[in-house]
Amino acid sequence: MNSNFFMARILAAVALALLLYGFIIPSVGFNGTLERIKDGKVEAIPSYTYPLWNFYQKGRYIGVNTPQTARYNLKKMIEISEEIGVPSLPVWNFSLEAPNYPKEAFPQGLPVYIHFDGLSGEVHEMNTINHYVGMAPMERGGIYEIALVPYALIALAMLLVLFIVYDNKWISRLMVVPILLPFLFVGFYGYWLYWFGHNLHGGAITIKPFMPVILGDGKVAQFTTHAYPVIGFWVLIAISILSLLAWWLKSRALKNQPSKKATPLQHFIMLIALLIAAGTSAYVFKTDMEVDTLGKISKVIHASKPTVPTAIIETPEPTAEQKEAIIQEREEQRKEQELKVKALEKRAGSAGKFKVSPMYKSNCAPCHGVSGEGNVGPKLVGLSKDAMLEKILEYKTNEDEMHIAVIEYMSEEDMEKLAEEIAQFDAL
Ligand code: HEC
Repeated sequence: MNSNFFMARILAAVALALLLYGFIIPSVGFNGTLERIKDGKVEAIPSYTYPLWNFYQKGRYIGVNTPQTARYNLKKMIEISEEIGVPSLPVWNFSLEAPNYPKEAFPQGLPVYIHFDGLSGEVHEMNTINHYVGMAPMERGGIYEIALVPYALIALAMLLVLFIVYDNKWISRLMVVPILLPFLFVGFYGYWLYWFGHNLHGGAITIKPFMPVILGDGKVAQFTTHAYPVIGFWVLIAISILSLLAWWLKSRALKNQPSKKATPLQHFIMLIALLIAAGTSAYVFKTDMEVDTLGKISKVIHASKPTVPTAIIETPEPTAEQKEAIIQEREEQRKEQELKVKALEKRAGSAGKFKVSPMYKSNCAPCHGVSGEGNVGPKLVGLSKDAMLEKILEYKTNEDEMHIAVIEYMSEEDMEKLAEEIAQFDAL
């Protein structure tokens, strides 16, 4: 019955290889990179991260804004401040269709990919919509779990190594963890979807708490949503089946040939594996300390706390200082976006898609359509600059329910720019 022991080892080794390739190597190698980019500490990114990320992009979704030359090129992506996703295999896909994301510009709708250790796809755009319906930004989901993922995956790999090295009934039972891995993922994912659907803070439009669809098609406000497993999930299923078969074969073998004493060689191999695991975990921990993962987590949580709706409870007028800070922040955001648009404009071939400014796109397009053609709100094409400006200013003074959230802290200069821009929209 020795062949059963052997087969069990081979199957578990394949499961381990899939786990390493699909999840552990990319997530350990990329750990801390997004934080470093955000902190402007690009020089602290280890050099191997670049080829690693580039390699894992093959066959992945490419953002509609990503220029040809920046695909599979992390360095370029950072230079032009494009949205960068994590490289591990994506497990679930969530996408959204709406009139303001026309098929020509968004052939795949607005997709976001859920990974063990983060997100990829049109996360920024999706967050604009989340904000609009009062939902927390996507980064808020699974925030602690995601930080713990590299450690948990390393521990899981160790468990598989234990199984491969030793022939022992008790160790075999631990295989229940890799067997249940796909279900664990779906469990966490479902929990967080529930959380998002039940922690609404009242956005520009108000929707009732709801359970987002885990698998299949759904509808939120005027958006059609799709949610499906992708490549990473099938790899998890493969790991699960391989682990199940390995466990079954070994259990049969152990029945015929009860545990023998482990040899020094077995202990030695296990020791080496443990040292590698400990070293890798220490490395991940060092990176986490350096980029202050915990501090960032509490910031994200704080930023997505519900803001009290002004209509119900009187909030004190923000102090001049607070106002100043908010205006400053907006100004910085605007400058950042302007730089991005400049980079986009330089690019040939895709000019048609980027007719509107980011200011219009993120604040007004959800309701008035990407080109002012109208959607929930009426069409804006054809309004003159002055009429528009008058209307927006009026909305501001009247604290118009539909508009106050998007124009509250917009400077008059910005409004004028916006009105000028919209007045030039071509009729479709
Ligand atoms: C939450 C959805 C929503 C958002 C976001 C929004 N609007 Fe509106 N807008 C509407 C609706 C609905 C109306 C029509 C009802 C009304 O007049 O209040 C409207 C009306 C208007 C009108 C008057 C149109 C007319 O023909 O009289 C203007 C101008 C306008 N919006 C400009 C803007 C601008 C500029 C922005 C971005 C800064 C913006 N809106 C963002 C929903 C929205």
